Order: sequence, then structure tokens, then C-alpha cells
Amino acid sequence: MTVTTTVRTAAALSRPPAAAPQFLDCIAGDLARVEERLAETTRSDIGAVRDISGHTLLAGGKRLRPALALLAARLVGRHWDEPRAVSAGAAAEMIHLATLMHDDVVDESRERRGKPTANAVFGNGITVLTGDFLLARAISLLAHNDENLHVVRVFSDVTVAMAEGEVLQAHVAHDLEITEATYEEIIGRKTAQFLAGCCETGAMLGSATDEERADLRAYGCDLGIAFQITDDLLDLTGDPRKTGKPLGTDLRDGRVTLPLIHTLKTADAEDRTLLRDLLSDSEISDEHIAAITAIIARHGGFEAARRAAEARAQCAGAHLHRFSAGVYRDALERLARYVVARDR
Ligand code: IPE
Ligand code: IPE
Ligand code: MG
Ligand code: MG
Repeated sequence: MTVTTTVRTAAALSRPPAAAPQFLDCIAGDLARVEERLAETTRSDIGAVRDISGHTLLAGGKRLRPALALLAARLVGRHWDEPRAVSAGAAAEMIHLATLMHDDVVDESRERRGKPTANAVFGNGITVLTGDFLLARAISLLAHNDENLHVVRVFSDVTVAMAEGEVLQAHVAHDLEITEATYEEIIGRKTAQFLAGCCETGAMLGSATDEERADLRAYGCDLGIAFQITDDLLDLTGDPRKTGKPLGTDLRDGRVTLPLIHTLKTADAEDRTLLRDLLSDSEISDEHIAAITAIIARHGGFEAARRAAEARAQCAGAHLHRFSAGVYRDALERLARYVVARDR
């Protein structure tokens, strides 16, 4: 009886709180170890730090960033130090968590991963500070290993890019003139660089050659662009019960994303004026969102964005040709298809 309970408890603890997509079963053991490392590393004798970190951590999430690092490490897989790769995966998820907490304060988001956001429950100030804790904890976890200078360098650089991307996005909020190039600059920095950094880190920990490392980085970059275009599509067309985030947050926050950019460019003068009028209202209601969504749909804005995401996902897959076929390359190829086909 005691034995059964212990075994069950251990299994429950090591299971990722959110089900990772099934094609990640090939790294299920690694992901379980990442969860253990996350639980150890987010411990603090300040109860509030533990509670607030745990709030978002235990709410789930797809764990894509640790998965990318571990898949890249196993794909290259010459000599690799498994505990270091697990720590890199945990650090990636902690950096992600920190940026989500900060992002939700900036975006005034009330729901994430199907639960109230940390800022909705605990308030803005303490959420920002806990985000700072997670960021510092991630770098500290890596910096405690003398061999990790290159890993710390990659993660610090992508965190700089993320901050720049978020600042640029806030700076151009409500600007209906922004071009696709500016949009790509924003999503490249705020999302794609980080996914690229996770792949690059995994490659380095798997003792990759320079060419392999560059290919995996390029894979992550295209994957990240496809991923964020899809996130922006889901913001307008997703099912909040699946995404765990409310619909239309980007419109309420003045984020001009690809479906809207396309529509502002291609719609007739009448619909363009209608769109501008709806978007300039100080309060964007559910009715505004429905009306804006209908105009975008009428002008093929969602289709155009979906095609752009699919094209980038295909480019991502093309960077994997150098690697020998097998379970890890297959998983990365599937991941590229998954990021655009996903509904959460
Ligand atoms: C959300 O990332 C933030 C973006 C970069 C769009 P994810 O969609 O990977 O979030 P979780 O970790 O699964 O909750
Ligand atoms: C956030 O992008 C990307 C980060 C760097 C955190 P979004 O603002 O679109 O992410 P969600 O939709 O809130 O998850
Ligand atoms: Mg947001
Ligand atoms: Mg979003």
C-alpha cells in the first residue's frame, strides 16, 4: 500500500503538468527530469516567491522550449552531459515563465494556461518581482556550472532580444501603418530568437559542429516566426477553452498583427475606414472584436497569415536535412507542423 502510494506520487510529480504533444514521447524521460529540476530550482524560503512562481509553472504550458533544447541535444547527440541539458531545458522554461509574467502585466492579461494570471491573483508589483526572480534563478542555475559560459551567453542574448521586441511592440502599439517588415522584426526578437537559442543551446550541449549548430539555430528561428504568427491567429480565431487565453487581447492592446496588416493593405476603402473606426474606439468590446474579425475574414487576412506561418514552418523543416533520419529529426519535423496546426 505504502509502496503503491509512493510510486504514484513520484509519477505524478514527474509528469509535466500539461500534456506535451504525443510526438514528444521520445523525450518523455528528459521532460520529466526537467519538471523535477524546475520544482527544485523554483524553491525559495520566501513562501510568496514559491507560491507565485508555482502558480504559473503548475498551471501547465506546452514546455516547447525545454523540448527544443533536449531534441536538439539528442539529435546531434555526440557526447552529452544529460544533467546539463536538463538544466538548460529548465532554465529555458524559467526564462519563458518570467517573460510571460512580465508580458501579462504589460498586456493586462487576466488569463493564461486556463487559469487567472499571476498579476490577476497577486497584483502587478509582486508578479514583476517574481518574474525577476525566475530570470535570475535561470541564469544562476546555468552559471553554477563552469562549462556553461557559452550557454549563458546564448540565453542572455536572446533575453536581450526578447526585451527589445516587447519594447518595440509597445512603442508601435495602435499604429495601423506598420509594415510586415516591422511585424517580423517584433516577432523575430520577442519569440523567434528565444526558440532559436533553445535549439542552439541543445546543439552545443550535444557537441554539434558549427554547421549543425547554425542549422539548428535557423530551424528554431523559422519555427519561432511560424509559432508567433499562429499565436497571433489564435488570439483572433482560437477557442479560449483550448488556448487558455481570452480572445482578442491583441486588439484590445493595440497590437497590429499579420491578419490585420494584410487586411488594412488589401481591403476596399469602405472596409478600411470601418476597421480604422472600430480600432480607434477607446474601449474594444466583444462586439468590436466580432466585427473586426468578420472584416478580416472577408478579406482573407486569416488565410494569408496561415499561409505565411505554413511557409515558415516548411522552411524550418528544410534546415534539418543535414541530420540523419530518426526519431529525433522526425519529432522536430512534426514540431514544425504542429506549431501551425495547434489549437492551444
Ligand atoms: C506563449 O508561449 C508566449 C508566446 C511566445 C506566444 P507558449 O504558447 O509556448 O506558452 P505555454 O508555455 O504553452 O503556456
Ligand atoms: C509574448 O507574445 C511573447 C513574449 C515574449 C512573452 P504574446 O503577448 O502574443 O503572448 P501571449 O499571447 O500573451 O501568450
Ligand atoms: Mg501577451
Ligand atoms: Mg499572443
